[in-house]
Amino acid sequence: MPIPVSAPPDLSRLFSVAGKNVLITGGTGGLGGMLASAFLAAGARVWITGRKAQALAAAKATLAALGPVETLEGDLGNSEGVKSIIAGFQAQADQLHVLINNAGQTWGAPLERFPEQAWDSVQAVNVKAPFMLVQGLLPQLCAAASDADPARIINIGSVYGVTTDVQQAYSYTASKAAIHQLTAVLARELAPKRILVNAIAPGLFHTKMTNFWLENAALRETMLAAVPLNRLGTVEDIGGLALFLCSRAGAYLTGNILPLDGGILAAR
Ligand SMILES: NC(=O)c1ccc[n+]([C@@H]2O[C@H](COP(=O)([O-])OP(=O)(O)OC[C@H]3O[C@@H](n4cnc5c(N)ncnc54)[C@H](OP(=O)(O)O)[C@@H]3O)[C@@H](O)[C@H]2O)c1
Repeated sequence: MPIPVSAPPDLSRLFSVAGKNVLITGGTGGLGGMLASAFLAAGARVWITGRKAQALAAAKATLAALGPVETLEGDLGNSEGVKSIIAGFQAQADQLHVLINNAGQTWGAPLERFPEQAWDSVQAVNVKAPFMLVQGLLPQLCAAASDADPARIINIGSVYGVTTDVQQAYSYTASKAAIHQLTAVLARELAPKRILVNAIAPGLFHTKMTNFWLENAALRETMLAAVPLNRLGTVEDIGGLALFLCSRAGAYLTGNILPLDGGILAAR
């Protein structure tokens, strides 16, 4: 086959997500806030979700400097909250090009005392809610999907869904392994509808979730020692990968669990 020198990829469009509708759960801060800023900077229209009206208003005020951002309030730990987020989006848009299931919870406690309630709430937010959001928003994902530009679902998993060194976060590690598996299953089922489903498995980023360890100098050093690149992840790292997955450049990837971990899994 000839080298396509007369028709190389159009680099001005290859990595573009401009004009896409993007829903990011848990977008008031942390990785969700990083993802929201990346998609807005790239010209997308973004919806972020959260549990608290005040936190949502503050995030919207900050992110609005980058582009069009809307908020949807709801607790993803229960069906009513999930349904209200779905209905809130459907009242504002007919098409959803990108759904990012980012919101997540963790809990750590010794095996003997691990609370049943913590098991249930982590599973509800980390596994059940992403499934229900896909189910409820399928019409809008299908409406956005085409052969040339499939719709995208990105589930935020974790290296803790793969490793066994999980700091007593039993429900968390099980939930992340589950979302990885659900990613592959949905990718297979939704490919004919031209919806691509991938998971990003982050390693170590400084957010509210990891602040307990990272604000302690000794613990921070121990955790960084497990990262071959010896640094935390940044907005460029998570934003860059997510933008790639949602652009034309990422249109042939589905069903993948992509570690974004500075080499943590490679070093096991
Ligand atoms: N940070 C890391 O190093 C790391 C590593 C691997 C994977 N991850 C994953 O990355 C994702 C984002 O976590 P993060 O690190 O950015 O932590 P974070 O700053 O604590 O953010 C968690 C987000 O989830 C939302 N959330 C939690 N419980 C919720 C509920 N019941 N209903 C609705 N929203 C809820 C929070 O929203 P509110 O505004 O309502 O609190 C918040 O926006 C999670 O899935 C996490 O497992 C993070």
